Amino acid sequence: MVDGAVFAARRRRLLELVGDQGAAILPAAPVEIRNNDVEHAFRQDSDLYYLTGFDEPSSVLVLTNAHEEHRSVLFVQPRDPAREIWDGPRLGTEGAVRELGVDAAFPIGELAERLPAYLEGVESVHYPVGEGHPFDTELYAAVRAARQRGRRSGRAFPTTFVAPLHGVHEMRLKKDEAELEAMRAAAAVTAEAHRRAMVVARPGMHEYEVQAEMDRIFRASGCERTAYDSIVGSGPNATILHYRSNRRLMEEGDLLLIDAGCELHYYASDVTRTFPVSGRFTEPQRVLYQLCLDSQLAAIEATKPGATLDTIHEAAARVIGAGLLELGLIQGTIDEVMEDQRYKDFFMHKTSHWLGMDVHDVGAYFADGSPRPLEAGMVLTIEPGIYVATDAEVDEKWRGIGIRIEDDILVTEAGNENLTSAIPKTIAEIESLMGERRAA
Ligand code: GLY
Ligand code: MN
Ligand code: MN
Repeated sequence: MVDGAVFAARRRRLLELVGDQGAAILPAAPVEIRNNDVEHAFRQDSDLYYLTGFDEPSSVLVLTNAHEEHRSVLFVQPRDPAREIWDGPRLGTEGAVRELGVDAAFPIGELAERLPAYLEGVESVHYPVGEGHPFDTELYAAVRAARQRGRRSGRAFPTTFVAPLHGVHEMRLKKDEAELEAMRAAAAVTAEAHRRAMVVARPGMHEYEVQAEMDRIFRASGCERTAYDSIVGSGPNATILHYRSNRRLMEEGDLLLIDAGCELHYYASDVTRTFPVSGRFTEPQRVLYQLCLDSQLAAIEATKPGATLDTIHEAAARVIGAGLLELGLIQGTIDEVMEDQRYKDFFMHKTSHWLGMDVHDVGAYFADGSPRPLEAGMVLTIEPGIYVATDAEVDEKWRGIGIRIEDDILVTEAGNENLTSAIPKTIAEIESLMGERRAA
């Protein structure tokens, strides 16, 4: 678990980033109603959690440089023994100051009355504008009240919104030590689950049975949830990029594509492996699998400080493009294939996204209009794929084959570190692990 001092240091850094006349306001994630009085599972907003480690709903963090004694203020649900019988203990105002180290804490019901005073002297407010957050109305009312007070007192009032929370997202993009530890732990659990999937999967099982084995490992290892809905797609379902029903009965000769990763203490992992349900690749599967793997390895090799997600994608696409040409799945020269992106008929998504507290994590992909150069401490996925639709106009032997290989890669000063390298990935490794299974 992350030390309180780490959260306090992050709050101080964000305060520096927002400047003398800036404030950052971070509301808790909204509680979503599923039906009647039944709620969807609550997960705290990642930005708020990153700055506090606080996971209760109905709370708002205010960070401001305009108030010298109260630079960090948390509005929380007050203690309420009757409610706590239903929902469990709350930290309350005293607990928030004591446990989280904020300068002050007040009941959330006092926010409308107190927030305008904290906005006096503030010119710019960093806030997730435009996301339709239910807290918007209260914030705008407080800004209006602060403006009226400022007109009388002569103090500054908010005139600028900075959105999204640029400063905190820049901080989250480059992982600190505590985050890397959390991401390594999440990666280790996900690795165990993928290995387990390779050991249990066999013809005659449903996709969801494999999913259940992985979910058991996630939960039994302390993960609160998966980082996203697991994709467990066998046979032709492996060619459906966002397949999620996971209900098919798997057959001899199928490939099984599993894109699944746990979330552990608010950090995500995101891994895809593709393997033959029966334990041995057929010849066409072997050929396309090796091509996808070569592409992924080339992209990982290209991942280092100074590279960009575009140069990494180009490295992945060039290998796949050349391979598809050689196999006759596409036509032309390699220059034409790259120029027109002809590989997109079979590799239609990008190679990478940021990874962190959220699976598609925050952080700008561009700087000054150009893809931003990677720096040590950033974490991204490398996930090329090859998907041949069941009705593709190609030799029948390729049809219905879907493959993706995805790892979580930390950029280091020296190049990169693969956080999910413990999961079998070469054909030999996969067939060997699955062969042991058959022998068992
Ligand atoms: N699992 C979501 C993704 O790979 O982007
Ligand atoms: Mn994925
Ligand atoms: Mn991904």
